[in-house]
Amino acid sequence: MNDMQTEVLPVDPIHPDPAIIARAAELLRSEQLVVFPTETVYGLGADALQAHAVEKIFAAKGRPHSDPLIAHIADEHDLEKVASNIPTIAWKLAHTFWPGPLTLILPAGPHIPHVVTAGLATVAVRMPRHPVALALIRATGSPIAAPSANRFMHVSPTTAQHVLSDLSGRVPLILDGGSCTVGVESTILDLCGDIPTILRPGGTSLEALRTQLPTVQAPTRRAPQHKERHDEQQALKAPGQMLIHYSPSVPAFLFEGTSEMIRATMLAEVQRRQAQGERVGILIADEDLATFQESGALIYTLGRTNEPEQIAARLFAGLRVLEESGVQVILCRSFSEQGLGLAIRDRLLKATGGKVFPA
Ligand code: TXA
Ligand code: MG
Repeated sequence: MNDMQTEVLPVDPIHPDPAIIARAAELLRSEQLVVFPTETVYGLGADALQAHAVEKIFAAKGRPHSDPLIAHIADEHDLEKVASNIPTIAWKLAHTFWPGPLTLILPAGPHIPHVVTAGLATVAVRMPRHPVALALIRATGSPIAAPSANRFMHVSPTTAQHVLSDLSGRVPLILDGGSCTVGVESTILDLCGDIPTILRPGGTSLEALRTQLPTVQAPTRRAPQHKERHDEQQALKAPGQMLIHYSPSVPAFLFEGTSEMIRATMLAEVQRRQAQGERVGILIADEDLATFQESGALIYTLGRTNEPEQIAARLFAGLRVLEESGVQVILCRSFSEQGLGLAIRDRLLKATGGKVFPA
């Protein structure tokens, strides 16, 4: 289905032109797809209440129907349009963290099509913080179902250019609002079990959630399995928790330890691979630059190690820049797990398929 002309329409990320938003909303109401920026990553949107429209998301992404979608709303009270039996804690969290990068898993409401929830009894819902996303949801007059706007299993897009390189010819319209400011996807918090549990760490930190919900359980750490494949049965039990899910198209490795250890082992690995004629890309911190400047590796710096917001914002762009540069391998340094660091580590583990140095 690469037969469609994809239009990229620039839109002011802070004061979006109402005429542009109206045009995009009209497409959504007529069961078409629209890609739009959120504060986390770009989303591939369809009217969440029209099953035929939502179907097109799965076709455009090449995503299996067993993987459910997030319903995006523009007003706290629209929670009732998508969920039912909403617990008090959900209202409290919505009040504190919305609009923002927090997705709540709640009992699904009666009007939400099965294609959105993958037939589960629960629904994922969030209110994004991006003015374009909010304006678009309001103008559409309906919740918007949207996964990240990448091809299935690829790195999430944080610019319209990333979207275009994955979905050109597969969607009619991309609203280009520039780079996403958070840069990693929302935190997914399951409020349907006995203990509130983070299913995916993301743009809302564990520490911030704990201030409102002290019992919140951190995401479970899964043992890395190198050859893990997508399996529909497994996806149904644990949606979104496949390890290889955000992978660049070239092999990647994660380097752990103190900064000194990381620099030493990574530099040795760069030299070993270059001696075999490989082109090597590295994803490092500003502080590592002096070590690698003369190494011959292709360098992408993410920011200072103590600024996880900046690292998160540049992470997916870094993976894409390196994979497109023609390197044969990407070596990534690891970061502290504090704040957004937990999400950064999760995405690096996924991008590297759990291939860690030292093993
Ligand atoms: O920041 C974000 O969350 C972005 C922007 C566009 O909002 N969206 C996003 O969507 O990352 P997606 O589809 O790429 O990831 C959503 C994850 C999926 O892994 C899905 O399995 C999980 O949420 N999910 C959706 N509904 C669920 C449910 N009812 N129970 C458990 N997990 C669910
Ligand atoms: Mg995704």
